[in-house]
Amino acid sequence: MKHLLSRVVCKNSDEKQKALAELQNICNQCKACALCNTRTCTVFSDGKADAPIMLIGESPGPDEDAAGKPFVGRTGQLLNTFLAEAGLDRENDFYICNTIKCKTPQSRVPTNEEKRACQPYLFGQISIVRPKIILLCGTTAMHTFVDEDLKLTDIRGKWLNIFDDIEVMAIFPPSYLLRQHSTEPNTPRWFTKKDLEKVKATLDDLTL
Ligand code: URA
Repeated sequence: MKHLLSRVVCKNSDEKQKALAELQNICNQCKACALCNTRTCTVFSDGKADAPIMLIGESPGPDEDAAGKPFVGRTGQLLNTFLAEAGLDRENDFYICNTIKCKTPQSRVPTNEEKRACQPYLFGQISIVRPKIILLCGTTAMHTFVDEDLKLTDIRGKWLNIFDDIEVMAIFPPSYLLRQHSTEPNTPRWFTKKDLEKVKATLDDLTL
């Protein structure tokens, strides 16, 4: 499935930051679905507006809902470890956000209605940041962009043809890796290490 992005182009980091702040302001007041009643705050993003890589997760958990930042707590720590081991730098290389911006009750998978309600924010973020690479972290993020019958285990680690000018790859989410401890060949942790090494090599090619 091909996706088109808004033609609005921010020319530099300052313009991107300003556009993202305006979008976040709107998001903070969002009442488009019932999750607005149970959130502590919206969790919009972490990282640099002009980062070359955008990582998209599923939804904020309780730690993120309390901190107002995506991927903190145990999942965030594991993500940071995997990124660092592949030579990637969370602070400088990444703009991180989620498919939906509010915590779900008992961390359940977001409904299609919740995902639809939140899509303008996600697509707005992609259009403004215009990263070189997008990492879809888990099934919910992946199914925003590819057919629902495709499985994460089948397509993770492959470059997907979704946008004309952005390389897109799905990877296992840290919440899953927390339950998978083996680092033996062909295990989820091993695949994730290989996938992120591939991302680092592509980033180096694209930013030469
Ligand atoms: N934390 C996030 O912010 N997103 C996820 O998908 C999982 C944990």
